[in-house]
Amino acid sequence: MDRKILIVGNWKMNLNVSQASLLVQRLHERIKIHRGVEIVLAPTMLTLQPVSTEIDRRKFRLSAQDAYSKDEGAYTGQVSFAMLRDLVSYCIIGHSERRIYFNETLDTVKEKVSAAVRNEITPIICIGETKIERQSGETKQVLHDQLTTAIADLTSSEIDNIVIAYEPVWAISTFGGEIAKPNDIKDIINFIRDQISHLYGLGTAKRIRVLYGGSVDDNTVTSYLEIPGCDGALVGGASLNYHKFSGIVDKASLVYQKSKIRIK
Ligand code: PGA
Repeated sequence: MDRKILIVGNWKMNLNVSQASLLVQRLHERIKIHRGVEIVLAPTMLTLQPVSTEIDRRKFRLSAQDAYSKDEGAYTGQVSFAMLRDLVSYCIIGHSERRIYFNETLDTVKEKVSAAVRNEITPIICIGETKIERQSGETKQVLHDQLTTAIADLTSSEIDNIVIAYEPVWAISTFGGEIAKPNDIKDIINFIRDQISHLYGLGTAKRIRVLYGGSVDDNTVTSYLEIPGCDGALVGGASLNYHKFSGIVDKASLVYQKSKIRIK
């Protein structure tokens, strides 16, 4: 592995400004600068700005959890990617909670991915099948449709700068939290790269970072990070607990070091 492991903590709709500040302080105390791990925090829209003034940029980068695809205008309640461009490096797009609770369609996700890229924000595109889709053998069709639509408007030079998070919906705590078998995840990560390769060539498929986005904590993350082709994890609940989140970062660092030794 010649690239850093990416660990993204999605705080979802948790932590007010003072709680967020406390978590950042704890994370600072506990997490050191890791050469092989890129750590990204995704606080709520409200807490992004204060958190941005509190983090050590050598340790942490920031992500939004969502944004609106138009740059400005009469869109009550929305915040645009254009407004976030100097604040965040990443934005999570198409998380299953947004697709399921807020009816985000394939086209909505596509528009957001384009808006993110247009504003120089790296989209973390979440794709994943529900339990019912899995049971009826539709996993690959669902992933194909979600992935190809999301990136349909990107040029071949823009495509390099995206991250894909495979989050089997049945394996995130919100919708069941079943434990996914690392072997099954390996097949899907290969499938995702095959789709990219088909559209943009093998070189691009190898360069794109693919994360595991099902439930992980400090005890389970290693088994996913050791999957060949898995570049990191999108962490939900465990990112709110500084013991667990810093433990995940430590495990990621170990996986990175081991992979370096294997390469030598
Ligand atoms: P969880 O969430 O870690 O709380 O299961 C994962 C996700 O939403 O990607």
